[in-house]
Amino acid sequence: MPQSSIVRPYRWLAQYYDRIFSSFRLPIDAARERVLGRILPHVETACDLACGTGTTALILARKGIKTYAVDLSPLMCRLTREKAARARLPVRVLRADMRSFRLPEAVDLITCEYDALNHVPRRADLRMVAKAVERALRPGGHFFFDVNTSLGFERCWSGTIWFEKPSVVIVMRNGHNRQADRAWSDIEWFIRDGSCWRRRHERVEEVCWDSDEIRRVFQETGFDQLRAWDAAPFWKGNPLIGPGCRTVYLARRSQG
Ligand SMILES: C[S@@+](CC[C@H](N)C(=O)[O-])C[C@H]1O[C@@H](n2cnc3c(N)ncnc32)[C@H](O)[C@@H]1O
Repeated sequence: MPQSSIVRPYRWLAQYYDRIFSSFRLPIDAARERVLGRILPHVETACDLACGTGTTALILARKGIKTYAVDLSPLMCRLTREKAARARLPVRVLRADMRSFRLPEAVDLITCEYDALNHVPRRADLRMVAKAVERALRPGGHFFFDVNTSLGFERCWSGTIWFEKPSVVIVMRNGHNRQADRAWSDIEWFIRDGSCWRRRHERVEEVCWDSDEIRRVFQETGFDQLRAWDAAPFWKGNPLIGPGCRTVYLARRSQG
């Protein structure tokens, strides 16, 4: 793959992801329940794409759904396997890129949550993900995902924010380039190691698309329906996710 298309997988973020972010991603559970409410009872097979630490994969598996979980980060995959083993849930975890992943069977539902779809490095990658998802779904199957919008980038991905948890502090220096529709976060980690604090650095980049582009790409890659919801009502009380900052989508693979 050309250098520009290589993704650096989560490393430190993977290790501390649940400790730092689990409460921030709770609203996505509400969005999933609301948007997939009528669909979920009919889902027999599913895949959580860019599954992170496996939270959603476990929720799906707990409903009796045969569940696959895919992520590019080896550590995220390991954490998902460990969580599934502890919960005694048969989640099958595959390490793969969302732009090229393949599943052993076509599934009824694919989820890709907490702006994971914004994590691809190039604008052209949206089409690659849509094609890979289309290939992995059975005809009539659904793809549920949420993305940051450029307004979301402006609100959330600017300035410096920090979080402190026992033995770990992170400082996120965020920025975005409106013209290029890209955002980044330079993350400084301070991790306690006995009586010392160790410093680590990690960078995450996101690309964003407008709703017209998402609609066009999914239409052109074999989806016959795309519904969209503003995410703000699900993130009530979070001033950073106001109206227009994040969108939740449900796409349906065409029957034909
Ligand atoms: C913001 S986290 C979201 C994790 C999870 N979906 C959640 O809701 O908590 C983004 C995830 O995308 C994964 N990721 C980034 N680029 C990827 C790619 N090209 N293919 C597969 N996974 C990727 C990261 O490793 C990380 O686990």
